[in-house]
Amino acid sequence: MKAYKIAVIEGDGIGREVVPEGVRVLEAVAHRFDLSFSWQNFDWSCERYAKTGRMMPEDGLEQLRPFDAIYLGAIGYPGVPDHVSLWGLLIPIRRGFKQYVNLRPVRLLEGITSPLSGRKPGEIDFVIVRENSEGEYSEVGGRLNRNTEDDIAIQQSIFTRRACDRIIRYACELARTRKKHVTSATKSNGIVFSMPFWDERFAAISKQYPDVKADQFHIDILSAHLVAHPDWFDVVVGSNLFGDILSDLGAAVVGSMGLAPAANLNPEREYPSLFEPVHGSAPDIAGKGIANPVAQIWTGAMMLRHLGEEQAAHAVEQAIFKVLASSSVRTRDIGGKASTRQMGEVIAEEVSASAGVSAR
Ligand code: NAD
Ligand code: IPM
Ligand code: MN
Repeated sequence: MKAYKIAVIEGDGIGREVVPEGVRVLEAVAHRFDLSFSWQNFDWSCERYAKTGRMMPEDGLEQLRPFDAIYLGAIGYPGVPDHVSLWGLLIPIRRGFKQYVNLRPVRLLEGITSPLSGRKPGEIDFVIVRENSEGEYSEVGGRLNRNTEDDIAIQQSIFTRRACDRIIRYACELARTRKKHVTSATKSNGIVFSMPFWDERFAAISKQYPDVKADQFHIDILSAHLVAHPDWFDVVVGSNLFGDILSDLGAAVVGSMGLAPAANLNPEREYPSLFEPVHGSAPDIAGKGIANPVAQIWTGAMMLRHLGEEQAAHAVEQAIFKVLASSSVRTRDIGGKASTRQMGEVIAEEVSASAGVSAR
């Protein structure tokens, strides 16, 4: 039996509601495929910040280091400024563990109605490859003359050849396993140093993949094309901020924030990778038991795949797809009345029951 040690950070808001459903489904698939998970919960959150003044202990990364993976819900809640909560927990983990790939599949599923009229499953199926270690998200900069009329904020973007090349290469490699098409998100008309540099690196790296069609769009029209022509895209690679924005746009075009999974990968496997949905803590619906757990559950499938458990990953995805296609149990965001727990239970049951997926 393969045994995995997983660090669980439910975090804030609906993170606490959807993570238990993800664990439920992963337990069901473990049973079926003769795997075992040992889960260790960490209460790192805004609530902890209120009590201790820190989102995580000073040695937080050392505590996480021995785990095979990190399974996270969402971080951030009113009462703690977002830049304090996120830079006190999620972003240090992504950076400290060199999780430089943020992988975000966007797929319209059977049984889900896209807000784009007439779009059918199969027509929207692309992956966002988001640079996850630098770019517009940086700690370089500062404030001067605070609270005076001369108040100044300076925020420096950082684009390194090392980080651009590795993320573009990752995107090209991924495209090779898919529809062999990679699209770069740029803004080299308006941003005169970092974006022309990004374009240069995209041209240099994508040239090494003659079998992969490479094109690029400025982020403004790319956003429009993702709405008007989502079927044009296969792999979309972008900087940290562009990839972030396109991720929520992607989730929207395939029906709900509650359906969008993500993986923060350290491809070299030198450190644990982190698996979380694209969405946040959704304070507007937190505590009501109505959040859609599908993104969190699907993220669990991405974790299984990263751990080398392809069959188990596939079984979880198939269970999600089957339930969404045919079950009347669905949460409000996708037109039903089910609770978070009912949705998790029906997917877990499907994992346990599904025929045609052979156990090892
Ligand atoms: P959000 O993703 O939390 O919510 C946006 C909207 O989508 C809300 O209306 C919410 O109800 C809905 N939604 C999100 N997930 C849903 C689900 N599973 N089921 C049904 N509806 C869902 O984004 P926000 O409101 O911008 O951010 C809220 C907090 O979360 C902030 O503190 C933000 O910084 C944080 N955040 C954290 C992460 C993360 O931990 N990775 C990601 C995004 C935002
Ligand atoms: C995401 C989130 C985070 C990000 C925030 C909460 C810092 O929006 O994971 O998409 O921008 O990386
Ligand atoms: Mn985001």
